Amino acid sequence: MIGYINESLFLYKTLNSKRGILQKNVFEVLHTENTASIKLGNLKFGGNWFLSSASYAVDIVSLCLICQIIKPNHIFEIGTLTGYTSFHFALNTPPDTRVYALDLPKDKSVEPILKTTITDDAHIKASGKSAEYCFEGTVVEAKIQLLFGDSGNFDFSPFYNMIDFFFIDGSHSYDYVRSDTLNAIKCCHPGSVIAWHDFGRVGVNGVTKWLRELSKEYEIFSVPGSSIAFMVIPD
Ligand SMILES: C[S@@+](CC[C@H](N)C(=O)[O-])C[C@H]1O[C@@H](n2cnc3c(N)ncnc32)[C@H](O)[C@@H]1O
Repeated sequence: MIGYINESLFLYKTLNSKRGILQKNVFEVLHTENTASIKLGNLKFGGNWFLSSASYAVDIVSLCLICQIIKPNHIFEIGTLTGYTSFHFALNTPPDTRVYALDLPKDKSVEPILKTTITDDAHIKASGKSAEYCFEGTVVEAKIQLLFGDSGNFDFSPFYNMIDFFFIDGSHSYDYVRSDTLNAIKCCHPGSVIAWHDFGRVGVNGVTKWLRELSKEYEIFSVPGSSIAFMVIPD
């Protein structure tokens, strides 16, 4: 029932453009041809984001499209979990692209230094339990470099001005999304794309609050029917 109400409110807001950020598809903002191909993985093992609520499927398609359109050389992701999104970044980029995927160490040796939400705590627990990554043994595995640490105090300086596509999907509290975004901006350069997951989902959601605030400074878009929000770093 809670899931139904959450999804209904999410749908109501996206159908009526009431999420507080201009709704546009990735292909309306980024320069693209009339057609684009994307690759989907993990189909034999559940397809992860192909769920009864369709927004997750639009999320993964939009992320694949960003990769196919901008062809990033270096991607940084905060929030690896089982590597579903990292796998798709690797599947949808040129062979020499590197994907850096950061998560908390699985042995719980690091406690998040900033505030987390109840859902974050559940994801952190799930991440600690999952021993495998869904890209293991695939042809793109070598493109993905796993990093471990707390995004709240991780040293991002080796990545400054280097990242072409930055995806933020770690802790979803206001404090974390704000801190992760400010670090992402330092890692990016003009023309880079930053994308966030879970924009506009109801409940405890720091992503929505922070992005509405940030949209006063940057042009940010939310994908219709999806929880992906994204921006292109201006010149
Ligand atoms: C919603 S899941 C990410 C889902 C993932 N992108 C996927 O492909 O399914 C959030 C992940 O962020 C990680 N995380 C939470 N807080 C973090 C932090 N402070 N630093 C790094 N990773 C964090 C969690 O351990 C969890 O694996």
